[in-house]
Amino acid sequence: MKDLRGKIAFVTGAASGIGLGIATALAQAGVKVMLCDIEQEALAKAVERLKQTNVDVEGVRADVSLKDELAAAADAIIARYGKVHILVNNAGIGGVGPYGLWTEAGWDWTIAVNLRAVVWGVSIFGPLIEKHREGGHIVSTASIAGLISRNSLPYNVTKYGVVALSEGLRLELAPRGIGVSVLCPGFVHTRIMDSMRNLPERFAAARPPGPPPVEGPLAERLKWMRDRNDAGVDPLYVGELVREGIENDWPYIMTDAEYEPVIEARFASIKEAFDRIRDRTPRR
Ligand SMILES: NC(=O)c1ccc[n+]([C@@H]2O[C@H](COP(=O)([O-])OP(=O)(O)OC[C@H]3O[C@@H](n4cnc5c(N)ncnc54)[C@H](O)[C@@H]3O)[C@@H](O)[C@H]2O)c1
Repeated sequence: MKDLRGKIAFVTGAASGIGLGIATALAQAGVKVMLCDIEQEALAKAVERLKQTNVDVEGVRADVSLKDELAAAADAIIARYGKVHILVNNAGIGGVGPYGLWTEAGWDWTIAVNLRAVVWGVSIFGPLIEKHREGGHIVSTASIAGLISRNSLPYNVTKYGVVALSEGLRLELAPRGIGVSVLCPGFVHTRIMDSMRNLPERFAAARPPGPPPVEGPLAERLKWMRDRNDAGVDPLYVGELVREGIENDWPYIMTDAEYEPVIEARFASIKEAFDRIRDRTPRR
């Protein structure tokens, strides 16, 4: 979508971090933006602050892991702006503990917000974008953890899912005039390490039983992640990259090259697996 001015976008997880950065960058480019978030107070503040900069934005509260709430939010953008061109599936949580500490409820919560809601977003907004025949774009926020899996396995599983969904959708939606990009950020300075603040009651069993550990490998790991997040890139910079990605129909939107060698090593390992069997005759 070369000319974004006057287009209409729906951004989930827009009250904080990357979502707010994307909403801001799009609004500054003349896009009318409906910000959607589970956190009412933060959402109201974000919308108010953006409105002060003279951009056309509104807010709608929804828990995207509830399909009915996401569908009601879609009704709200149509009621307010009449149509929608851009969907940004960005709402997400950090996920829950490593092997041995993960719980059923933790997996359910992580899958519901990080993956199920993205599928619902596409199902609900895809037909709305197609309807007006003006074209559109879908961006979903995965992560570098959608391309390499090391720690935080429930998180990585959902992010690989978002990459897979986006890669396949790009082929299926191109003939329908809808571009698809997947955002794979490295560390970004946001509130993701405090994701528990948005734990819906129905997933309450995902909450760890006691306070976070203060020593040992898990404490060190959490501290490392918090430090890396604090030193991460600016969410508005990420938002500007997303805007550029939509304008130029980039399949992948990266935010920095820190993990490029790790991804190359993964590809090399996959290539080695092919090399190992290349000269064999498959048995059928
Ligand atoms: N921060 C990073 O380093 C990083 C790196 C890679 C990917 N990401 C991804 O970026 C996305 C945004 O996260 P962030 O880092 O900006 O964190 P953040 O916590 O600052 O923002 C996430 C937003 O999503 C909202 N949210 C959470 N659950 C929701 C729900 N059920 N329904 C609606 N909204 C909900 C939160 O209220 C919050 O406003 C996530 O998908 C995350 O996985 C973040």
